[in-house]
Amino acid sequence: MGIIYNEKAKSFKLDAGNSSYVMQVFDNKFLSHIYYGKHVPDTDMSYLLGPISGVAPSKVPGFEVMAMDALPFEYPVPGLGDYRDACLEIQTKTGHRVCELEYDSYSIYSGKPKLDGLPATFGNEKECTTLEIVCKDPLLNLEVVLRYTVFEELNVICRSSVIKNKGSEEIYLKCALSACLDASGQDYDVLSLHGAWAKECQLTRQSVNANRVISESSRGVTSAQSSPFMALVSKEVNETCGDVYAMNFVYSGNFYASCEAGQSGSTRMVMGINPNNFTWKLEADSLFETPEVVMVYSSEGLGAMTRTFHDLYRNHLIRCPYGNQDRPILVNNWEATYFDFNETKLLELATEASKCGIEMLVLDDGWFGARSIDDRGLGDWYVNEDKIKGGLGKLTKDVNGLSMKFGLWIEPEMVNPNSDLYREHPDWAIQIPNRTGKLSRTQYVLDWSRKEVRDSVYAQIKHVLDNAHVEYIKWDMNRHLTDLGSYDLPSDRQQELSHRYVLGVYDIMNRLITDFPDLLYENCSSGGARFDAGVLYYSPQIWASDDTDAIERIRIQAGTSLCFPLSSMGSHVSAVPNHQTGRITPFETRGIVALSGTFGYELDVTKLSQEEKDLIKKQTKMFHKYNHLVRNGDLYRLSDVFHPEDYACWSVVSKDRSEALITFVQIHSRPGFFATGTNIKLQGLDPNAKYYVEQHVGGIEPIGTDSESVGDQEKRQASGLGGMESNGVQQISGAALMNGGYVIQRVPGDYTAQLLHFVRVKE
Ligand code: GLA
Repeated sequence: MGIIYNEKAKSFKLDAGNSSYVMQVFDNKFLSHIYYGKHVPDTDMSYLLGPISGVAPSKVPGFEVMAMDALPFEYPVPGLGDYRDACLEIQTKTGHRVCELEYDSYSIYSGKPKLDGLPATFGNEKECTTLEIVCKDPLLNLEVVLRYTVFEELNVICRSSVIKNKGSEEIYLKCALSACLDASGQDYDVLSLHGAWAKECQLTRQSVNANRVISESSRGVTSAQSSPFMALVSKEVNETCGDVYAMNFVYSGNFYASCEAGQSGSTRMVMGINPNNFTWKLEADSLFETPEVVMVYSSEGLGAMTRTFHDLYRNHLIRCPYGNQDRPILVNNWEATYFDFNETKLLELATEASKCGIEMLVLDDGWFGARSIDDRGLGDWYVNEDKIKGGLGKLTKDVNGLSMKFGLWIEPEMVNPNSDLYREHPDWAIQIPNRTGKLSRTQYVLDWSRKEVRDSVYAQIKHVLDNAHVEYIKWDMNRHLTDLGSYDLPSDRQQELSHRYVLGVYDIMNRLITDFPDLLYENCSSGGARFDAGVLYYSPQIWASDDTDAIERIRIQAGTSLCFPLSSMGSHVSAVPNHQTGRITPFETRGIVALSGTFGYELDVTKLSQEEKDLIKKQTKMFHKYNHLVRNGDLYRLSDVFHPEDYACWSVVSKDRSEALITFVQIHSRPGFFATGTNIKLQGLDPNAKYYVEQHVGGIEPIGTDSESVGDQEKRQASGLGGMESNGVQQISGAALMNGGYVIQRVPGDYTAQLLHFVRVKE
């Protein structure tokens, strides 16, 4: 059992993987946080509250306020003396904003409930256990159910809350966050992810101090500017050591996360829907459910945290059949043609691509309505037959005739003023009446809080998908929300718009995957602005960034990989000079970096040299050889990939430790390197097994590696003959590779890359 209640101490202990989480009902009233960290056997750890217990409100009448600001809470409320960030803030009809939550009861059950209309992790009755703790404000008749689900095999606790108005009058929720962690001590740093368009997920590290460290979005979507990830880490944290307390939000809209040092020596981390521009009218007898926060603990640094998130998301979040399946290698026409294409051009691209082993053509922006440039057409989801003669039905047939699949881009949440949809329904855009809304990329956001708006757009998209053999959808979202106003919502519900909008998005994503269960679905938002766990629930892959430059991608993909598996990361080989940076990198390097993701191409194959096309053939073969490993293996970041200087290195090790794929990118070439090479200490191997380098791509062949073909290797493996030593291939123990390291030979030139495949010698 992962959850224990100690009746005498009135405490709860949650065991998740090899971590423990302890809470206690303090002073017979307040649900307090006591401990989170490495596994402990104790269920009563109230001694940790130490001197704070001395100022329990009931023990020292007259000093309640002091106690409130010192106590560690599970779900803090403001206005009673706790001046740190709160999880729940309300406003009554009388205008008062205080509520006081008292512990009431609990229940423990196997499995995990679904969240209504929201994405969330899932697990069956054998995989997880849920604790529900009910707290009440008797005066307001307000009930808060705090949910904790423990995945027993993983260091994971998933949290959400349900706020129930059991009174007879409405209550306004001004803030309803999902989780709080009152960690003891203050000797921490805070990690968060920030960025910009084409520069997503840049890791930031700051110390905890008396001011709050905040990471948030109020853009209506997750955003490229901040990602809903925050981790409190001990000062010594690196990839392999130190304590990490991480939170990741399963939500795709405005979020708020903060870390703050309290006056009593503890540190509070909270996460949830951003209270900025949020007020929810909770009618009598109704409830509000907060989205889920996933908490991960690691005592072995960031690497272990990452692998926990990856295992959880691969097995308990990505729900589509493609979660663990091979994905087709695609070519997307965006950077190849932008808006300048017709069916002939597309078929030329598909023909050439199929000869190189590419398996799917994705038709990006510009196939619908009057969309010849980006100031028109969004909202009109019917095929532009001037551009695509014979329509999509014919085009998909022709593409399928080349033994290729066909995928399609949509941006369903948007409308251009220059569109039939907007001309007919100007009030369907998010706007404030009588105020001209601000345009971004010449488009408005549709008011998806309204069902009729969603129904209308979805009917158009469904019609397209019903009439052409589309096997993949790229769902884009290319602007943020402004001018927050809905023509439909009453004045006391206007502040609900942002959250209702996100619920509307989830409704359509859900309809899409329900009506078209075999569709492979990729999300995108001006690149990686919606790379979040909420969207990952519906879509097993997400475009990580519009920056397709292989060198820039190292940092972007490393930041994204903190929580998200490589199998979810959209990454393509694009043309040079790169369209975002102007940088010229070798074709091999672009391929090697893109292999650590979903893999595909974003260029005009018809314009490539024969040599480059031959490289595509090699790369597509490499993809098939290694993708099972990339998709399912454990990721180890072997260098500081967040701030790479001379080189970046990472590896993926299979779960059974029988193989590992090492990626090494030389960012800058420096003279001394040729003589010495760079020693990389591998991780995650079996120390008692022996390994050899089975294939090495790029760079200089390491000493002791033969250059036999893949076919020869397979034959030899199939024959059961390890035989490596007789072939002159060096065998090295996992222990030596992890402790002594492996020397990567450096080669002249910037931006070169190497891929090394280590295979365990068969016993
Ligand atoms: C966004 C996406 C790109 C492309 C364009 C099309 O910028 O991130 O990949 O689809 O839109 O307009």
